[in-house]
This record gives sequence, C-alpha cells and structure tokens, in this order.
Amino acid sequence: MKILVPFVLLMLAATSAQADLLLPGDAGRGEKLHQANCTGCHDTGVYTRSNRGIRSIGGLQQRVDMCNTQLERNLSDAERSDVVKYLNERFYRFQ
Ligand code: HEC
Repeated sequence: MKILVPFVLLMLAATSAQADLLLPGDAGRGEKLHQANCTGCHDTGVYTRSNRGIRSIGGLQQRVDMCNTQLERNLSDAERSDVVKYLNERFYRFQ
C-alpha cells in the first residue's frame, strides 16, 4: 500500500502539467506584460465579475487581440500568448 502513494502523486503531477502544456506561453511574463500594458482602461475586476463576457479560451484570445489593438505599443503574438496564459491561469481557468 505504501508504495502506491508516490505513484499517485506522480500521476497527479503529470495530469496538471499536461493541462498546463495545452496553452503556449509563459504566465509569469504575461503577468508583467499585463501590468505594464493592460490596466489603463480596466483593472482585473473585469475578469472576475459575475457577468464577465468571456466563455472560452478562443473568446479570451480574441478579446486580448481586440484590446491589444487599442494599445499604442502592440504586443507580439508571443507576448499575447503569455498574457492569455496568465489570464487563464489566474482568472478564467478554461481547460
Ligand atoms: C483602450 C482601453 C483598453 C485597454 C488598453 C485594454 N482593454 Fe481590455 N477591455 C476594454 C473594454 C472597454 C472592455 C469591456 C469591458 C466591459 O465589457 O464592461 C475590456 C474587456 C476585457 C476583457 C474581457 C473581460 C470579461 O468580460 O471577461 C479581457 C479579457 C480584456 N479586456 C483583456 C485586456 C488585455 C489583456 C489588455 C492588454 C493587452 C487590455 N484588455 C487592455 C478596454 C481596454
């Protein structure tokens, strides 16, 4: 019985790592980019309010693209992926 515990933990770690891999990008970089670029018009309250508009990862990507086009300093594809990954990990949690 004892020997099962490490295996179960390993499997749990593998599952969460897999879910994480589905989205490209770096959430840590995304957080910094978000802080530097995305808090001029709204704070993070729009991501957690009860009537928030985004319902899927695709919707989140589209919205980040749309908001990004409003910025003077356009974020690159890779930077937008970082921001989407950060927003999903921290607030939306789509699988
Ligand atoms: C020029 C102003 C502006 C900037 C800058 C801006 N946004 Fe937005 N954003 C908006 C507006 C307006 C809404 C819609 C708010 C509403 O529906 O009440 C919005 C909504 C959103 C939503 C949807 C929230 C929901 O309802 O679930 C996301 C996600 C988002 N913005 C991400 C970003 C990101 C990421 C950046 C930085 C790249 C950014 N925004 C920069 C204006 C902006």
